[in-house]
Amino acid sequence: MNDSKRTLASYNKTAKEYVANFGQYKWDKSLHNLFIQNIAKGVSILDVGCGGGQDSEFFRRKGFLQLGIDPSHQMIKIAQKRFPKCQFKVQNIFSVKKSNFGGIWCHRVFHHISLKEQSRFLQRIYSLLKDRGVLFISVRHNRNDEESMIDMHETGDLILQKNITKKTFSELIKKIGFKIISKGEISGKWNYYILEK
Ligand SMILES: C[S@@+](CC[C@H](N)C(=O)[O-])C[C@H]1O[C@@H](n2cnc3c(N)ncnc32)[C@H](O)[C@@H]1O
Repeated sequence: MNDSKRTLASYNKTAKEYVANFGQYKWDKSLHNLFIQNIAKGVSILDVGCGGGQDSEFFRRKGFLQLGIDPSHQMIKIAQKRFPKCQFKVQNIFSVKKSNFGGIWCHRVFHHISLKEQSRFLQRIYSLLKDRGVLFISVRHNRNDEESMIDMHETGDLILQKNITKKTFSELIKKIGFKIISKGEISGKWNYYILEK
């Protein structure tokens, strides 16, 4: 099994506990508001790695069309049960058929995308956005670009955790073509970026 399949297997196993601990509806609401201030009313939002679906539900309640995707079928099963009015699919970003999203939300996911895959992942997000569409992404920064398999959920299953330097990340997004609208700290190593195509 490669690192990304192993990460997914761990989320499938721990989905219920993860959502109970970290998937609450009001989580990081200020970040959601920062994001929606930068997109036009009612546009389609893609929630990449939506987990238990609470962020998709927030966007739906605010009047946006939303699609939440996650490669974990257990996460999607929970999301559908919690928020039946939302649209969710078991998908990875490369198999999304629709494009022209006005906004893409990618929170607490990029640290699971390997250093080798991250450029392709961000390019794909860029291609799914319409012109001047906006990406919200949260990123774990550290002094070095590094990744390791860690027992994040203390189940004995390993999950890929990546840190990226501020310099590498800014070079990466610039190369792809994103412009920074705003950025800031969330807490600890976590930072957010609001980027425009
Ligand atoms: C830390 S959880 C965050 C879930 C949700 N975004 C939130 O903030 O509550 C990470 C999520 O990323 C998903 N994931 C793992 N690998 C992924 C990949 N390659 N592409 C998209 N999502 C992935 C996991 O299944 C899991 O639901």
